[in-house]
Formats: sequence, C-alpha cells, structure tokens
Amino acid sequence: MIFDVMTLFPELVDRITGESIIGRARASGAIEVRTHNIRDYSEDKHRRVDDTPYGGGMGMLMAAPPIYRCYENIRKNQKGSSLCVFMSAQGKVLDQKDAIELARYDNITILCGHYEGVDRRIVDEIVDREISIGDYVLTGGELPACVLIDVVSRMCKGVLSSEECFENESIYGGVLEYPQYTRPEEFMGRKVPDVLLSGDHKKIEQWRREAALELTAANRPDLL
Ligand SMILES: C[S@@+](CC[C@H](N)C(=O)[O-])C[C@H]1O[C@@H](n2cnc3c(N)ncnc32)[C@H](O)[C@@H]1O
Repeated sequence: MIFDVMTLFPELVDRITGESIIGRARASGAIEVRTHNIRDYSEDKHRRVDDTPYGGGMGMLMAAPPIYRCYENIRKNQKGSSLCVFMSAQGKVLDQKDAIELARYDNITILCGHYEGVDRRIVDEIVDREISIGDYVLTGGELPACVLIDVVSRMCKGVLSSEECFENESIYGGVLEYPQYTRPEEFMGRKVPDVLLSGDHKKIEQWRREAALELTAANRPDLL
C-alpha cells in the first residue's frame, strides 16, 4: 500500500507516521507514505496556495490549480489500483469497514484541506471519496490523514505482528473487546478476575465473551 499525501504541512504527516508501529511498517516497506507539499506546485512568486472565497465570507480557501498539478504529478508515479480521498468534515464518517475496503487498493492519494477548506471544483475533479474522522471540525486534514493511514495500514499484510493481530479487537468483531489485565495481580485493592488466573481456557473464553457483551451494552449499545 502506498499513501500519497497532498498537504501544506508534510513534516507533520511524516513525523506522526514515522513513529511506532506505522513507522516500523514504513521502515520495513510493508507500507509507503509519500508526502507532497502543495506549495511546491504554486506558480505564485510567494508560493501562495490560498485565496479569498467568491461571494465573500470569512477566511481563505485553498485554490484548485496547485492541488491539481500536485495530483497529476502523483498519478504519473502510481501503479495499480488507486483511490483519491479528501479528508473532510463533510464526508462519510470513517469506520472499520471502510478501512478494510480501502486496504485493498494499491495506492491511496489523500488531500488535506486547511483554512476554510478547498475550492469545490478540485473535489469534483479528482476526489473519489470524502472521509470525515468524526462529527467535529479540525483546523486541517493532516491529523485526519494520519488517522486514515493508521487504520488502513493495520489492515495491510506485514504491518502488525501476530501478537498485535486485529481480529479480536473492538469493533472488528462487531462488539467491543473484553477487558484485559496484566501484572500486578492486585492494584489499589482491585484484583484481576479469578477466572483469568485459573488456567482453564474454556472458562476464560466464556468469561471474555460475556465481559465483552457487558462492556458493549454499557458503552456502545448501538453495536448490539
Ligand atoms: C477548518 S476545516 C474546514 C471546514 C469547512 N469550512 C467546513 O465547514 O466543512 C479545514 C480542513 O480540515 C480538515 N478537517 C476538518 N475537520 C475534519 C474532520 N472531522 N474529518 C476530516 N477532515 C477534517 C478538512 O481537510 C478541511 O478542509
């Protein structure tokens, strides 16, 4: 999987996706994250990429031409299937099913908006899907892009080790994950449930199933 990220803040995306599991996946070649500074495609002598909105209103909009030039350059270097995603508060809210589906592409190109957003015509011209990471508005698309890269990468071969496997995790299996405990056996008077120390794998499995359902009923009844 190759992610091409169009952004005004490439260092931000590089920094976040350069750490921990995703950073290791990049280093091993399981995924690739290429960042592209939209400013490099500005033809303005001050490298401007934004302008005031037609019809008036607050703030600035990212103009279409530099983004289009950046996108064309990216597309020239992509092979195989590809999808262009715009991180946008106006998009469909991302869920695990989307991540599984997106992980099937060879390339995902991600457009990060900033300021008041982007000229609508660039969305109509190049974007296949608008994706939001939640019903709130952030200052830019870079953090949402990193969220998308993280959640899709976890579904890609070679990113998680078998210990980190995603199949038992919350949401993936339709409900939340069961509560987990590690040493010490007692913390602030709270004991690890006896069944987990019993060594009886059948009972442990049953306890986990029930505990997962209880937690789901309490925190996310909509999943049941
Ligand atoms: C300040 S926001 C623009 C909001 C836009 N004026 C609106 O009302 O929808 C700047 C950029 O942040 C990104 N963004 C903000 N909230 C987001 C969210 N919930 N999910 C994904 N991207 C978001 C988008 O790329 C957006 O273009």
